[in-house]
Amino acid sequence: MRRLFPSAEDDVDLAGVYGPGQAAPGRPWVRLNMVASVDGATAVDGLSGGLGGPADHHVFATLRSLADIILVAAGTMRAEGYGPARLTSALVEARRRRGQPDVPPIAVVTRGCRLDWGSPFFTDAAARPIILTAAAAAAEDRERAAEVADVVLAGTDGVDLGRAIAALADRGARSVLVEGGPTLNGQFAAAGLLDEVCLTLSPRLAGGSALRILASAQLGSVSPLSLASVCEDDGFLFLRYLV
Ligand SMILES: NC(=O)c1ccc[n+]([C@@H]2O[C@H](COP(=O)([O-])OP(=O)(O)OC[C@H]3O[C@@H](n4cnc5c(N)ncnc54)[C@H](OP(=O)(O)O)[C@@H]3O)[C@@H](O)[C@H]2O)c1
Repeated sequence: MRRLFPSAEDDVDLAGVYGPGQAAPGRPWVRLNMVASVDGATAVDGLSGGLGGPADHHVFATLRSLADIILVAAGTMRAEGYGPARLTSALVEARRRRGQPDVPPIAVVTRGCRLDWGSPFFTDAAARPIILTAAAAAAEDRERAAEVADVVLAGTDGVDLGRAIAALADRGARSVLVEGGPTLNGQFAAAGLLDEVCLTLSPRLAGGSALRILASAQLGSVSPLSLASVCEDDGFLFLRYLV
C-alpha cells in the first residue's frame, strides 16, 4: 500500500493514514466506509464481494480495528451474511495499546427487528451485538433480540439515527464506523451525521442497477468534501474525505 496524497510514501502505515478522527464534543466521530466500482456500483449480483480484493480487505479490517462500534443496516447484514467481527492478533494488540476492548461490537439498525438470532453473528460474538430498533418493532421480537444482544430503542416508526448515535455515545463510543448499506448511508448523509467518507474505488466496471453509496438521499444542497488522503494498491484507490 502506497500513499499518493498528501505526501508520497511506500509501505504506508494504514492506522496512521486513517487515525482515530476528531470527535466533536458530545458525539462520536462517524466514518463511512464503502467500496464502489469505477462506474459507481456498490454491489455485483447483490454482494459487494465482487468489487473487493486483498488490499480492500486490509483497509476494511484496519478501519474496523480503529472503531469503538461498527454500525450496519439489517439489509446489508442479511445480504452479506455478517458474522462476528474478527481481527488479526496484530490489530487486537494495537487496540489494547489504545485502551480499546479486543473487538468492537457491531450495532445493527433494524425496523422490523427480525434477524437470525441463532446465527454465529450473535452466538459467537466476542463483543455482544447491539440492536438499534424502534418502538414499532413487535415487543416479542425485541424480547427475543434482548436474549442475544443489547437492544436500544431509538425511534418510534424507524430508527432516528441522531438518537442512535447519541445512544452509542452514552455507551462510551468515540468513533463509529458505518458499513452501509446505501439506504442507511443516505439517511446518515441527509441527517448531517457523517464526519468522514472512506471510499475504495475498485478498478472494475460493474454496470447493472446496484445502488450508489448513498441511496435516495435528499441532501438539500451538494455537500462539499475535503480530500484527506489517497492510497493505492493493486489498482485500487483508497480515498479518504472529510465532510
Ligand atoms: N459496496 C459496499 O461497500 C457495500 C457496503 C454495504 C452494503 N452493500 C450492498 O448494499 C446492499 C444492501 O443495501 P441496501 O441499501 O439495500 O439496504 P441496507 O441499507 O443495508 O438495509 C436496509 C434495512 O436496514 C434497516 N434500516 C435502514 N434504515 C433504517 C431506519 N432508519 N430505521 C430502522 N431500520 C432501518 C431496515 O431493516 P429491517 O428490514 O430489518 O427493518 C432496512 O430494510 C447489498 O447488496 C450489499 O451487498 C455494499
